[in-house]
Amino acid sequence: MNRRAKSIWVILLLALTGITVFDACDYKPRNQGQKLYEKECASCHMENGQGLGELIPPVANADYVVKHKEDLACIIRHGIAGPMTVNGIEYDGEMEGNTKLSDIEINNLIHYLLVDLNQQKEHFVISDIRAQLEDCQFHSDK
Ligand code: HEC
Repeated sequence: MNRRAKSIWVILLLALTGITVFDACDYKPRNQGQKLYEKECASCHMENGQGLGELIPPVANADYVVKHKEDLACIIRHGIAGPMTVNGIEYDGEMEGNTKLSDIEINNLIHYLLVDLNQQKEHFVISDIRAQLEDCQFHSDK
């Protein structure tokens, strides 16, 4: 192999390692959670979770999220409707459930909501989330 070919290999190898390391990060719950948030939730709750005026409540720094930690999985899967107060503002809208998300995706999404958007130290593990999902109360066709 001549020198030029060698250096091309080195560059390729470095690039590949870079990609692998970068990809591996995606398996961290909050990274997958953030991606899912951007894809499934940000269109309404906005990019940083700040909500939209009196139409869409915030999910970042939101008292509702912190007070209803254990309901989040059910809210995400089955939706929620009717009057609610978030950070002192009343909302009376409707959010449809997201049935595309798996239990693990919901877990990662909630991790992102609690830890990154609401500075909570504690978060759930997958068995907690599964138990919550089995026990969703405000939904009739579960
Ligand atoms: C089509 C718009 C829309 C999408 C998409 C959406 N939501 Fe909502 N969400 C709402 C509305 C509207 C409410 C308020 C419902 C009410 O007033 O009863 C709400 C309420 C909530 C609440 C409870 C109130 C609060 O802000 O703390 C949480 C938590 C929540 N959404 C999380 C999510 C997550 C996580 C996703 C992504 C999986 C998501 N939402 C996707 C519109 C949406």
